[in-house]
Amino acid sequence: MMKAVVLDKITQAKDIFLSDIPIPEVKQGWVLIKVKAFGMNHSEQILRLNEIEAYYIKKPIIPGIECVGEIVDGSDTDFKKGQKVITLMGGMGRGFNGSYAEYVLAPAHHTFAVESGLKWEQLAAIPETFFTAWGSLFECLHLTPKDTLLIRGATCALGYASIQLAKALGCKVIATTHRTDKLPLISNADMQIVDDGILKDKIKGITKALELVGPKTIRDTLALMEKGGIVCNTGILGGVFSLNGFDPIKDIPNGVYLTGFFSNYPTKQIIDDMFRFLNENNIEPQIGKVFDFADICEAVIAQDSGKVNGKIIVKMSD
Ligand SMILES: NC(=O)c1ccc[n+]([C@@H]2O[C@H](COP(=O)([O-])OP(=O)(O)OC[C@H]3O[C@@H](n4cnc5c(N)ncnc54)[C@H](OP(=O)(O)O)[C@@H]3O)[C@@H](O)[C@H]2O)c1
Repeated sequence: MMKAVVLDKITQAKDIFLSDIPIPEVKQGWVLIKVKAFGMNHSEQILRLNEIEAYYIKKPIIPGIECVGEIVDGSDTDFKKGQKVITLMGGMGRGFNGSYAEYVLAPAHHTFAVESGLKWEQLAAIPETFFTAWGSLFECLHLTPKDTLLIRGATCALGYASIQLAKALGCKVIATTHRTDKLPLISNADMQIVDDGILKDKIKGITKALELVGPKTIRDTLALMEKGGIVCNTGILGGVFSLNGFDPIKDIPNGVYLTGFFSNYPTKQIIDDMFRFLNENNIEPQIGKVFDFADICEAVIAQDSGKVNGKIIVKMSD
């Protein structure tokens, strides 16, 4: 048996508890992982408070879209018992059980062997957050050292990671927050701005923009771009998930490009490239707070409070 968070309906943070359920049985093409730590994500908050009612969510579901740990059973794959791995996305925590558990059964093609000297709780801050930052900045925005990058809604784990990657690359970074008291948290950007929802006419020279507030502010972001600039919508922090009435002809200025990133498709090549870049640039993830798995309810309450600055990590006992 193992301990896990199991959800079947909208659940408030205070009502989260650990259940005892059977350890999943391994099957062809899937690997059984002993979870050592996992990072918490905004999307799990959305699942717990809203999305769980959607038809495509398996119920009951163990939430959690990423984890780090060791292979217990590699099934028919090349993974070996004891190998250090990360796994993320591909339906994890939505279509099949996720990482708020002592063991995870994960598809082999979404599981990646990693070599890292980081402690488990540090390693756990990397998979989803850095993969998303990496994909948004490089696959979608084609970021180069010559760019001036706007990160809109930067006071979230993804925002902090994106600042680190972009600064390591050598480009100029302008980061925004909607809270004046959070300005010091983005002080490693070249410029910090308090965002009241309208930045057009307030900043110039933006060649690339990472939109984490999302559809709520995307028209304004598109309107402030330099010609030839690219906007990547990756976040939905503003609470608006899609836009009815978006008019591509008028809302996207001539010669400005709009793209989006979805972290559902990590590949071994990208994960290897990303870890190489992190190692070469001595980038360590910005961790907000580490909780023991036994204190998962407090971790979820802390997430809802919005007061933890940086990635929330949950660590299993040894
Ligand atoms: N496209 C993808 O595949 C993908 C992958 C990963 C994440 N994401 C998205 O990226 C965003 C960040 O995710 P995360 O997991 O890094 O978040 P997180 O660390 O859980 O951060 C959430 C925090 O962002 C802050 N925030 C900053 N600007 C905000 C704004 N304008 N409006 C509301 N809240 C704001 C809020 O705190 P304050 O209000 O106190 O500032 C909130 O507590 C989320 O929207 C998430 O869904 C997308």
